[in-house]
Amino acid sequence: MLTVFAVDLATAAEAEPMPTLLTASDAVAGAAGRFLRGGEFKATLGETLLIHAPGGLRAERLLIVGLGKAKRLNPDQVRKGAGAAVRFAKPRGVRDLAIAFPEDKALSDEHLDDLPCEATARALVEGAELADPDYDTYKTDRKDKSIGSLAVVAADAERSVQEGIRVGFEEGRIVAAAQNFARSLVNEPGNVLTPTALGQRAAAMCAEVGLRSEVHSTEKIKELKMGAFWSVAQGSEEPPALIVMRYEPEDGAGSKEGAAAEGSPVIGLVGKGITFDTGGISIKPADGMEKMKYDMAGAGAMIGAMRAIAELKPKVRVIGIICSAENMPDGKAFKPGDVVTAMSGKTIEIVNTDAEGRLVLADGLHYAKTLGCTHLINAATLTGAIGVALGRLNAGLFSNDDATAERFEGALKTSGEKFWRLPCTDDYADQIKSSIADIQNTGITRYGGSITGAMFLKEFAGETPWIHLDIAGTAWDDEQKPWIAKGPTGIGVRSILEWVRSYSD
Ligand code: BES
Ligand code: ZN
Ligand code: ZN
Repeated sequence: MLTVFAVDLATAAEAEPMPTLLTASDAVAGAAGRFLRGGEFKATLGETLLIHAPGGLRAERLLIVGLGKAKRLNPDQVRKGAGAAVRFAKPRGVRDLAIAFPEDKALSDEHLDDLPCEATARALVEGAELADPDYDTYKTDRKDKSIGSLAVVAADAERSVQEGIRVGFEEGRIVAAAQNFARSLVNEPGNVLTPTALGQRAAAMCAEVGLRSEVHSTEKIKELKMGAFWSVAQGSEEPPALIVMRYEPEDGAGSKEGAAAEGSPVIGLVGKGITFDTGGISIKPADGMEKMKYDMAGAGAMIGAMRAIAELKPKVRVIGIICSAENMPDGKAFKPGDVVTAMSGKTIEIVNTDAEGRLVLADGLHYAKTLGCTHLINAATLTGAIGVALGRLNAGLFSNDDATAERFEGALKTSGEKFWRLPCTDDYADQIKSSIADIQNTGITRYGGSITGAMFLKEFAGETPWIHLDIAGTAWDDEQKPWIAKGPTGIGVRSILEWVRSYSD
């Protein structure tokens, strides 16, 4: 099936859409022209129009996919458009797809400037690959409808454009596979993906792509005096997992021994890996609790990012740390009122055992610093409040350093993911003051719950430039979109990867 993109060229003043094809091919224009003129296709984002046996073309089917308004054209529209093509093809049993690389003489240079060929090819392949999985792994009657082959057609393009497309295509394949890997982990039920199983899957991935990894459990967690991490883990029959993944560049400044001391950055990626969150003794209501299997989406994002890093080989050292446990109510479980001592030495009063993510991350962040990390990022499904604040479109971004946050925002231009920065200035520190310990694990009030969570983590990042991504509202999507299956989104993988690459020397 040949897929061609179309945009709506109408200006704001014009009421009627004006669809135009992003191809200079006369044959395609001939086959599709009268349908476009007929007004049945408006080129809205993800809209599809199928033409059977298109005259003058060798393909059996020609699919026109809308990319929305021409003036908003960017690689993210292309990502979604390519995804819509794949989602259209799959249920119809179409396994081989060729997508025409967007080009059109009808578009102004200004529009095409917004579609650099490498980034566009990468987004196109990402969109197509991300659209492929369906989360029906546990259905016994599932049929594999995966796409068999994907080609990008740019027959008339100049050599430099062809090369850009080739590079973008290869990158897109790697990035999307990493994100799909993260999504497959997030999809797994809690009885399958225990902390031990997460450790095994991470270690297998590391072996496959040439990363060093270690998976520790109770003994090491106690030896490191990770009292905050252990307090969460102690209530489960399932042992916790402390997963460490290391990426060292082959050459360049980032690879030198003692690089941190010489001023080269060492990036620490820390993920919340709660494989199931019952809330513990502060137990959650039954309604919707099944969703808490995805409370390891932060870990999934970091494991996915490490996989892409291993394959794209930036010149910067990266250490991935996953703190994985099950949060269960039990005779041995931690209780509200308990006081525990974190690895950093800070004492924490447990007010609510459901605020467990910040506890495991507190020790993960501190541990990352002891391993020499100079820059930290953590990802976590930390608070329900982030969905209340930002809805399901933007994830939360917090940082103790403006330059680091701006660098991350720069990475979003390539990733196409949406993160919105919220404050975590010291004015909010009162919220986590405890009368009995150094700090407490929930706020004195309910207001600004996501900020309170960030303030708690900030205590453990200290002076190290740090970013906190709260992905609780965006890690799982129950709404069907034309370009991607519902379920685990894999949010964070692409942005974390681009942020890391921005430190490559
Ligand atoms: N895992 C939850 C947060 C969450 C909520 C993730 C919805 C995904 C979807 C987290 O551990 C939690 O329970 N947080 C509490 C914090 C509160 C006790 C301060 C919350 O959001 O209610
Ligand atoms: Zn919780
Ligand atoms: Zn949780």
